Amino acid sequence: MTARILDGNVLAQKLRADFKNRAEALAARGTRPGLAVILVGEDAASQVYVRNKVNACAQAGFHSEKIVYPPDVEPRLVLDRIAELNADPKINGILVQLPLPRHFDSDAVLKAIAPEKDVDGFHAENVGALMQGNPRFIPCTPYGVMKFLADAGIDPKGQEAVVLGRSNIVGKPMAMLLMQASATVTICHSQTRDLLFHTRRADILVAALGRARFVTAEMVKPGAVVIDVGINRLPDGRLCGDVDFGPVSEVASAITPVPGGVGPMTITMLLANTLEAAEREVR
Ligand code: GUN
Repeated sequence: MTARILDGNVLAQKLRADFKNRAEALAARGTRPGLAVILVGEDAASQVYVRNKVNACAQAGFHSEKIVYPPDVEPRLVLDRIAELNADPKINGILVQLPLPRHFDSDAVLKAIAPEKDVDGFHAENVGALMQGNPRFIPCTPYGVMKFLADAGIDPKGQEAVVLGRSNIVGKPMAMLLMQASATVTICHSQTRDLLFHTRRADILVAALGRARFVTAEMVKPGAVVIDVGINRLPDGRLCGDVDFGPVSEVASAITPVPGGVGPMTITMLLANTLEAAEREVR
């Protein structure tokens, strides 16, 4: 079998064209969707992600503000800035790029963001709302994965879904969304005893563990849908996912590539959440 390749750029473009129209409609009523992105430090990958987020805003006709702090900034300054943004009517969404430097209490920073502007969906109140099946904002990466599945006509209902990775950003909310879509969900992690047993049962396999080409063809059930959330850099500088794409695409029925799969969808869903926050303001 040769897998169908789920193209994140194509789906992202389709969705972003709609967002641009909706942003223009809002702007005509005097409200332009606005996103503030806070970056602390000089992590190379974070700099790229933040630049891509700000550029995506510009292309969709959103207002955006990029706020950069040196790695040794006093956390109080960042918290004060978040308080200002919470009260700023031009800003509908606030995102603090993670990870933060070690001297920060990340939980405290995320909790400082007004839940109505928490477009990442990381505030404890929004995590709780998602868990209760009544989400205010769905975290962008798992939200993008669910859009991918829906667009490809893949219904998780009754399927065995296996998520590799238990992070707050991807693994946990991913599992919750798949369960709410009526899949039977298993979360695997670094301490899972018999990984192969689990992955070979998966109808839908989501890899979000951050290890280059970790998922090999023998780990995948023939005909499975394989979603690759990883972005890793190989020694030669090229990007690759958590899935060994070539061999796995011979076994799977559908697969997302890296780059050009989940990545563009993550930023697209950030735009979706920011737009939704702005639309709620004028409702
Ligand atoms: N770092 C890696 N992924 C993310 C994300 O989705 N949001 C934020 N804020 N930081 C991240």
